[in-house]
Amino acid sequence: MNWLQSFLLPKAAATHASEVDGLFMFIIYLTVFFFFFNGALIFYAAHRWRRRSAGEVTPHTTHNTKLELIWSIIPLMVVMMIFFWGFKGYISAAVAPNDATEIVVTAKKWVWQFEYPDGTRTLNDLHVPLNKPVKLIMHSEDVIHSFFVPTFRLKRDVLPGRYTEIWFTATEPGVQQVFCAEYCGKGHSDMLAKIHVDTDEQYETFLREGDEQVRQMPLKDLGRLVYENKGCATCHSVDGTRGQGPSWKGIFGQVHQGTDGKGHLVDENYIRESILYPQAVVVQGFEPIMPTFQGLLREREILGVIEYIKSLK
Ligand code: CUA
Repeated sequence: MNWLQSFLLPKAAATHASEVDGLFMFIIYLTVFFFFFNGALIFYAAHRWRRRSAGEVTPHTTHNTKLELIWSIIPLMVVMMIFFWGFKGYISAAVAPNDATEIVVTAKKWVWQFEYPDGTRTLNDLHVPLNKPVKLIMHSEDVIHSFFVPTFRLKRDVLPGRYTEIWFTATEPGVQQVFCAEYCGKGHSDMLAKIHVDTDEQYETFLREGDEQVRQMPLKDLGRLVYENKGCATCHSVDGTRGQGPSWKGIFGQVHQGTDGKGHLVDENYIRESILYPQAVVVQGFEPIMPTFQGLLREREILGVIEYIKSLK
């Protein structure tokens, strides 16, 4: 009856899907069996005890203890079996193994944001290693969303002000579809994400260099993305306004006066140094408050920031 399963359910792509599918198909078969069994009994009884003549009087029967016990105890055993089967599956889906990779999922109208252990962030594209457990720690910035991966047989609400968790081990390389399964406003049906199940090698490349989108992005655009997402915008403006740090507008090629009393030409090396060793040169009139970005930015992202600053004329 594998054709029925493949008709009813999408192809399974994670470990505990088989457990969910086993129980699901058991309930389907049970339902189909009792549909025909009960239907046949109704037709049999209607025929066997039909009224044969006008004025016929039937014997006065109040109950049948043996029959009532049978139709109570057997269904009770069946539903208890379904309960324990489902409970076992629920627990194994709820408790992640200790060695699972933890990825933080943030839902907001109408995107999914993923944050990896090394600080990498992606929007609407989740990269996970093949055959390794992954645990998602999920929260929402606005309304209730729901993270739904049909091929993993996973669905969990994502709530504001509370963390919910799910975990899985992806077993099929390739791309899986994520839906939002809780109505969250006009963009709800567009709130889609893809799970890229990567080989170890692909996953390493992704962590080192970013996803396909980032790798192909022009440096200047990548720089703006870093500026917006990694906190640069908190202190540095790009329109000349004075912030906690010097504005980036038009600084490339200028000479900055440092607190060491020397002039420093703003070039590629100066910017790189300022990102990695922010206390090396502090511009006069500013506090030495910038944190280092060592280990937080990839080489290409630093190049991107340099190109972005160059473009701000
Ligand atoms: Cu988010 Cu529906």
